Parts: sequence; structure tokens; C-alpha cells
Amino acid sequence: MKRGSEKQQRETAARREGERKREENTRKGDAAQKTIGLVFVSESNPITQQAANEAVDLALAAFAAATTSAELKQARAEHAGDGSPIARLNAKMREVPKELKAETGKFMGQARGRIEGAYKQREAELAEKEAAERLIAETVDVTEAPVRRTTGTRHPLAQLQDEIGDVFIGMGWEIAEGPELEHEWYNFDALGFDPDHPARAMQDTFFVDPPERHLLLRTHTSPVQVRSLLDRELPLYVIAPGRVYRTDELDATHTPVFHQVEGIAIDKGLTMAHLRGTLEHFARQMFGDEAKIRLRPNFFPFTEPSAEMDVWQPNAKGGARWVEWGGCGMVDPNELLAAGIDPDEYQGFAFGMGIERTLQFRHDLNDMRDMVEGDIRFNRQFGGLV
Ligand code: PHE
Repeated sequence: MKRGSEKQQRETAARREGERKREENTRKGDAAQKTIGLVFVSESNPITQQAANEAVDLALAAFAAATTSAELKQARAEHAGDGSPIARLNAKMREVPKELKAETGKFMGQARGRIEGAYKQREAELAEKEAAERLIAETVDVTEAPVRRTTGTRHPLAQLQDEIGDVFIGMGWEIAEGPELEHEWYNFDALGFDPDHPARAMQDTFFVDPPERHLLLRTHTSPVQVRSLLDRELPLYVIAPGRVYRTDELDATHTPVFHQVEGIAIDKGLTMAHLRGTLEHFARQMFGDEAKIRLRPNFFPFTEPSAEMDVWQPNAKGGARWVEWGGCGMVDPNELLAAGIDPDEYQGFAFGMGIERTLQFRHDLNDMRDMVEGDIRFNRQFGGLV
């Protein structure tokens, strides 16, 4: 009996203990349900230390991989901003059981701190790197010579003058020069101009003071013809390109300063045919293979016979036409005699034309002012090199 009752007692105690535990569990469950207020969840923590560490590792790797401030900002948005792994974990704080909140809050706080710290550090590194790169990129070499002027171009008249020189050098001629401030004797007297010739008048010629010195700005390049006759050995084949002056007002067809090229050849047996052949070759070099010239009788005091020379301009704007290009003729025998040359042994021809006119006919330019105004846009059209 006793044994039986003992056994009974033990069984009863066990039963009571089981009931007590069940009751306790039910109470806890009720409490948990109250805390969450939604559905019953297990007591396990929805935020694990491991998940937090993983979010931190992802963020740190992304920050380290960023090579610019812009990339770093992007990485920060992805790994510390709304919707980032750490933010999503943090959102679960509400689900953390009360008794785990302190501990979870602590390691989550540390995780966020590590992410923020890593961001700050990388931000500083990249800012320093970018500042250094900017310094290199913006380096100014203060010892470098500054370019103060834009490059210009040679003037089309200067280029054309060189080109004319090349045509004659190609035929074995030489280039002669003479002074622009010339003595009246070389410019007029020696060339057979009478003392009262209209060309000498004040309204055509720039005389230079004082008058008794008889200096002027040469009105043509023909005084170089005289100087060549006096100075050079025979036979003689020279051209004299250069600046000449006349008292014209500047307008579309006149400039008080312009350029001529004079040519003179003295040799045995020279005739008008040589003159014509030379000029025709020159015209073709200037205006193309279709160019032709025409001579019309004229008068110059230093040539006999003399001619006006026209050139055929096939592509003129108003249609093909003959245009007056210059003057020419056989050197007057009196000129040769005056220079001590026997006109029975030597003959010569001479010619002279305007370089501006040549440029005008070549490019069909109708306003000479463009050539003197120095507008780089005009000058550049001729493809001149500096
Ligand atoms: N010197 C003349 C002029 O200026 C041109 C010319 C030169 C004429 C040579 C004949 C011979 O008009």
C-alpha cells in the first residue's frame, strides 16, 4: 500500500509540474503576442550578429572598390541609405524580442558605426587623391613663353611678287632692286621724260622736300631699268619688282601706293618677237594655259616702238574680256647710247605691269582696297604660309 501510494504521489507531482510549465509557457506566449501585436513569432532574434557583419562587409568592400568621390557616393546610397542591407536589417528592430533589444541595438549600432567610419575614411582618401590629380592637371608652366598673337599670313601681293620672281628666275633672269626714294633724274630725265612732261606734275608725283634735292617717291619701277643699264654687264636680263607711289586717292581702282614689276632684257639680236614670247609665257604662268596677250601701239618716252599690253581674262565675272595689263616696247636706242651701249650691236626690250592688277585679274577681285586694309580674312584666302 505504502509503495503504491508513494508511486501515486510521484505521478501526481509530475503531472502538476507539467501543468505548471504549460501554464507558464502559455503566459509567455500571451506576453510575446502582446509585445508584437501582430502574429506570434518564435523568440529567436530576427537580427543576427552574422547578418549585421555581412552587411558591414558588403559596405566596406563597396567603399574600397570606389575609385572616385562620385562612385563612393553611389556606394554609400547602396550600402548605408534607404533599402540598403543594413537599413533593411535595422527595420526589423521592431520585431526583436524585448529582452534581446539592448544587445541587438548595441551590435547594430556598432555595425552602422563601422560603415559610417569606413565611408568617412574612404571619402578623405579619395578627396586627397582627386585634389592631387587636379593640381597636376591644372599645372601651369610659368616659364613657358606665352603666345600673345595669333599667327598671320604673308600678304597675297608679297606671295605673288615671289611667284613672279620664280617665273623669271626659271627663264634665267635676275632680280634687281632700286630705291623707293629716288632721284628725279632716274625716275624721269634718264627715261626721256621732258622737263614739262605731265607725269612730273605735283598732282601725280610725291616730291620730297627740300625741292632743290630733286627727290621723289618713284612713280614706276623703270628707274631700276636705268640703274641696271648703267651698273650691270651685258647681256642683261633683270626684273625689278617693288613698291611705287602716285598721288591717287584710295578707291576701288586706285591706291596711292602699289606694286609694279619692271623687266628689261639687253642682248644681241633681240626683237619684238622675244618680247612677245616672254610676255606670253609670263601671262600663261600667271593666268593659265589659255591666257593670251595682245599688243596695241602706244607711246612711252623710253621705248620705241612702244605698246600697251592686254591680257585675255577668260573667267572674268562679267564674261571673258581683254584687260589692260601693262606697257612694253623696245628700249629706245637713245637710252642705250646714253648708257654707253652701241645700239647696232645690242638691242633690248622692256615691260612693266602692276602686281595689284595681276592679283585682281587672277582672282577676279574688284576692289583694290581689300589689298591694303590688312584684314586677315582677306589675306588668308590666298593660302599663304607664315
Ligand atoms: N613704266 C611704265 C609705267 O609705269 C611701264 C613700262 C615699263 C612701259 C617698261 C614700257 C616699258 O606705265
